[in-house]
Amino acid sequence: MPEFAAQPVPPMRIAFDAAAATLSPEGPTLTRRMSDLEGLFADHDAWRDAAEGENPVVYSVVSSPVPEEDRELPQSITTIQPGTTGGEFWMTKGHQHPNHQGEIYLGLHGAGGLLMFDGERTEWIDMAPGVIGYIPPGWAHRSVNVGDEPYSFLAVYPGGAGHDYGWVLEHGMGHRVIAGDSGFSLTDYTR
Ligand SMILES: [Fe+2]
Repeated sequence: MPEFAAQPVPPMRIAFDAAAATLSPEGPTLTRRMSDLEGLFADHDAWRDAAEGENPVVYSVVSSPVPEEDRELPQSITTIQPGTTGGEFWMTKGHQHPNHQGEIYLGLHGAGGLLMFDGERTEWIDMAPGVIGYIPPGWAHRSVNVGDEPYSFLAVYPGGAGHDYGWVLEHGMGHRVIAGDSGFSLTDYTR
């Protein structure tokens, strides 16, 4: 057994239920309401009306007990509720890993997408149950629910990757995901 500065967690068995979007045993849970998403939607007035009105839960993240520490490999399930604000599909805040490292998302339920932006190029991956979306180091990433039911995915990522949400507020995500007559479309990023 090698020596580590911080003692790793013991081996563990973690069950996940793809339909219910749960992990067992469960670690921390994060809930993002509309009021937590300031600056994300192009239509600020529509966002403010929603945040100051019903202030719905837009997405939640349940984590396994594996901690976000260097060398560990934490997992989480994110569930984004269906909806639009100002014609823009509900989405996660999006983030960049300050300590550039890769990540995988596995679609579990519903219809979604993985939007990635490296500061110049945009990539979009249609996500559905059984699809792995790979996020290479250096690409900011955001998930979007483009369906009419909750969209859930499992994330597995290096515990030392970190979450830089400010990067997205500063640089944007390259494109926005807009509701249309026949599903969704990607448009240029406007603020
Ligand atoms: Fe990430």
